[in-house]
Amino acid sequence: MNPSEQTPPVGIIGGTGLTTLKDLAIEREQATPNQWGEPSDKLVFGSLGKQPVIFLARHGNPHRIPPHQVNYRANIQALYDAGVRTVVGVNAVGGIHSEMGPAQVVVPDQLIDYTWGRASTFFEGDLEHVTHIDFTHPYDDSAREQLIAAARELDVSFSDFGVYGATQGPRLETAAEIRRLERDGCDLVGMTGMPEAVLAAELGMRYVCLGLVVNWAAGKTEDIITMAEIEEAINQGMSGVKQILEQSVAG
Ligand code: HPA
Repeated sequence: MNPSEQTPPVGIIGGTGLTTLKDLAIEREQATPNQWGEPSDKLVFGSLGKQPVIFLARHGNPHRIPPHQVNYRANIQALYDAGVRTVVGVNAVGGIHSEMGPAQVVVPDQLIDYTWGRASTFFEGDLEHVTHIDFTHPYDDSAREQLIAAARELDVSFSDFGVYGATQGPRLETAAEIRRLERDGCDLVGMTGMPEAVLAAELGMRYVCLGLVVNWAAGKTEDIITMAEIEEAINQGMSGVKQILEQSVAG
């Protein structure tokens, strides 16, 4: 039996700036509709080193699905059905904490959910009983440690803490909204961290967020936020994200 038949696959959900993984040795791609609808894109089955990996582009490829319209349930269910029990969610984020400027990589340890109107649970509809999962620690500790250990070994500027504020989007925030998030204790802000994390938890999967800061959050500088600066930070920082993924996943 070859190793890929023994080792469970790691799921990688790529966000803005990560629609493909260049170093992924691709074996096949498969459309996997399920009871929740269509995932954002085909699942890409492959391997990083000896580790089987299933990659999914959260916003589709090309990037076309806005954060509030991602079918998070179909995405997580598709990965689960394909055998994934550990998910790395890669997220572009805005930086609020003074150490979290553009191109910084962040492995957050907590989150606050400000999203609304998204299908955010598998436990609804015709239920036999009501389920309230524990969500005290939204990100899996050992998966976080693996990413952090990989980042330490590499020459990548990263933070091993942070509270992720998940906002609705697709617009960016006002300066007052960011001040409120900061008062709440948020260190970074993004639009796709939830309900992805909780859906993975509802299925008993290990979930971890690998964030890349692509701009200072609104009001943190004198300037407005431009797509050009976001693209520049993605170009600068995404190679570090990919290195961390390779090193931590491929081992
Ligand atoms: N706010 C919310 N989501 C984001 C940001 C931001 O500033 N940057 C990247 N994703």
